[in-house]
Amino acid sequence: DTPGLVDAFGRTATDLRVSLTDRCNLRCTYCMPAEGLDWLPGGDLLTDAELVRLIRIAVEQLGVTNVRFTGGEPSLRKGIADIVAATAALQPRPRISMTTNGIGLTRRAAALAEAGLDRVNVSLDTLDRERFAAITRRDRLDDVLAGLAAARDAGLAPVKVNAVLLPGINDDEAVPLLRYCVEQGYHLRFIEQMPLDPQHGWDRANMVTAARILDMLSEEFTLTESPSPRGGAPAERWVVDGGPAEVGVIASVTRPFCGDCDRTRLTADGALRSCLFSQQETDLRGPLRAGASDADLAEVWRATMWAKLAGHRINEAGFAQPIRPMSAIGG
Ligand code: GTP
Ligand code: 5AD
Ligand code: SF4
Repeated sequence: DTPGLVDAFGRTATDLRVSLTDRCNLRCTYCMPAEGLDWLPGGDLLTDAELVRLIRIAVEQLGVTNVRFTGGEPSLRKGIADIVAATAALQPRPRISMTTNGIGLTRRAAALAEAGLDRVNVSLDTLDRERFAAITRRDRLDDVLAGLAAARDAGLAPVKVNAVLLPGINDDEAVPLLRYCVEQGYHLRFIEQMPLDPQHGWDRANMVTAARILDMLSEEFTLTESPSPRGGAPAERWVVDGGPAEVGVIASVTRPFCGDCDRTRLTADGALRSCLFSQQETDLRGPLRAGASDADLAEVWRATMWAKLAGHRINEAGFAQPIRPMSAIGG
């Protein structure tokens, strides 16, 4: 048995997040400027075959059991169904998920489920059409709601919804969002905003905290701690009104969970990141294109993860954002 992706703090990464593109068809204000970003040049992107090879190494040699496709918006990648199918053919078959803005799902949910996608997480910050257009700079709320339903109908279960609350913009929607998700059978999670925006506009004082979200929800719902184990998952979960519905809070800033982190990340241009907030990345595309063997690439991956830091330092003096913004890392 070869060793998995262990780090010097004793954590093991079994969850691989693969960014398929840094592009997106929305322009959420907290994520991108209206004009977009300087997209990665095409030649820098891993090809489908290169991506699949690296995912295979992670699964076959490095103990990865969960593969999540992210972006940018992963459904913009032409070969996504083939990449999912190739991932689903690996042994042992990993669980496969995708984090998406939901717009492509009406058209693609069934085909992706057929290819082997197990589940999706969909971003939805508001149920109000005008607010949605203001936050994402695109008038596509109905497409996202239809996409969520299409995911459910395609059996991509559980369908999870990610919501970021922004002060003065949608922070009065915690209760309505939860009502909607409970009704529709989606698992809602509220995410504390993290300092990962390219505009460097994040301000701790301007963040809706987990504590405040739980206070708002507790006025309308009875929340009890979920009995199911959290493992390395970012979301803390509560049972809503006796169940079966649950709600989650991803409190990366006020209640960091780095000590239980089980993640490793691959960017669309073939860089390894041991942490969402890594200042250093490891180039895997260079050795890959220079003819490195599977064993060589696995060794580079192991060394990268061994050097993983204890955690992000958002709450420490001198914290600096990673150079890549969220949309180029994959969240
Ligand atoms: P599940 O396995 O379905 O629970 O997914 P997830 O919540 O881990 O992934 P998703 O892509 O839906 O991300 C939700 C939020 O969690 C996003 O804001 C991510 O940036 C954040 N997130 C995901 N992984 C990490 C992590 O390792 N550290 C931190 N701090 N945040 C993370
Ligand atoms: N902090 C926290 N979450 C963020 N997302 C995008 N930018 C940030 C940020 N700075 C969310 C998106 C999506 C998920 C992958 O991450 O809304 O739901
Ligand atoms: Fe919005 Fe996500 Fe796209 Fe950023 S990456 S613009 S948050 S959908």
